[in-house]
This record gives sequence, structure tokens and C-alpha cells, in this order.
Amino acid sequence: RAAAAVERHARLIPDFPSPGIAFKDLTPVLADADGLDAVIDALAHVCDGADLVAGVDARGFLIAGAVARQLGVGVVAVRKGGKLPPPVVGVDYALEYGTARLEIPADGIDLAGRRVVVIDDVLATGGTVVAAARLLVQAEAIVDTVAVIMELDGLPGRERVIADVGPGVRVHTLCRG
Ligand code: PRP
Repeated sequence: RAAAAVERHARLIPDFPSPGIAFKDLTPVLADADGLDAVIDALAHVCDGADLVAGVDARGFLIAGAVARQLGVGVVAVRKGGKLPPPVVGVDYALEYGTARLEIPADGIDLAGRRVVVIDDVLATGGTVVAAARLLVQAEAIVDTVAVIMELDGLPGRERVIADVGPGVRVHTLCRG
């Protein structure tokens, strides 16, 4: 059901945000009530057992809160650099197009020993979710699951997550594109 909703509503935007990059816009999937329901249901199913859901800035936020609510756990935002008040812990990482920085609060949210699932919309090179997982692990969380709506063909995102987060990590994607 989720894959069918993506098929129906996702848009492909050529040459965005830079020439040669084909941007997958999944926001129309989430703007559709049935699409949102299907995606959240499917992600919550694969994230069962998590203690906390981490959503990656920015589109991961749209999904993570809903998944957390369905699982009956809390949600934490992994923000782009410069958005959070201090103290923060951060990591710089490479994107398919350019570089970026992710940050989480250095205190106030107890992550130690908790099973945290990382949620985002798209897995491309894997740099973003790997950076998010690194931050959470640095805060002593256990990141055993990464879950996204779409995994892009032709990019080694899944392999990168397994190589960098660890062979025990489960990578769940609802569809490929
Ligand atoms: C997109 C997407 C993922 C990331 C995937 O976000 O929403 O977060 O890229 O790419 P990767 O697997 O190669 O790291 P983007 O960086 O465009 O940020 P935005 O959500 O703030 O637009």
C-alpha cells in the first residue's frame, strides 16, 4: 500500500537542487491522507520495539513524529547545523550535492542505552542518516534501525549505512526509485 501511494504521488524533479541531480519529492505522498497513513503504518511496523524515534531535518520530521505517536514513544529532531540552542553535539558530512552539518542537543534528552530508530524520507548516498546515527551513538544511544520511505537506485546508501553504522543495523525502505 505504501509503495503504491509513492508510485501514485511522488514527483521527480530533474536538475534540482543542482544540475544532474534528479530530486525525488515525496511530500505529495504525505499530503495525501491515504498516502500518509500507508507510509506511517509501514514505517511503524518496521520500527516496532524502538524506545525513541529520531527524525532527520527536514522531511524526516514529517514522518518521525507520526511514527513515534503510533509506536507510543517520543521523538527527537536531528537538526541541520545552527538551528539548536547550545549546548549541541554536531557532525559535518558530505551530501550528494555539497556538504552539511547535523546537530542534536548535548543534554536534556536521555539517549544513553535507548534503542533509537533513524527516520528520513529518502536514502541516497547514505551520508545523512549515517551522520545522524553517528551523533546518536556518540550520545550512547543504540541505533539498530534506519527506516526511510525510498531508497534511490544506483547509489550505495544501504551499503554505506551497513559499513558505517555497523553490520547489525537493519535498513528498511518501503520502495526503490
Ligand atoms: C535529502 C533527503 C535526505 C537526504 C538524503 O535532504 O531528505 O535527508 O537528502 O541524501 P543522502 O542519503 O545522500 O545523505 P536534504 O539534504 O536535501 O535536506 P532538506 O531535507 O533540508 O531539504
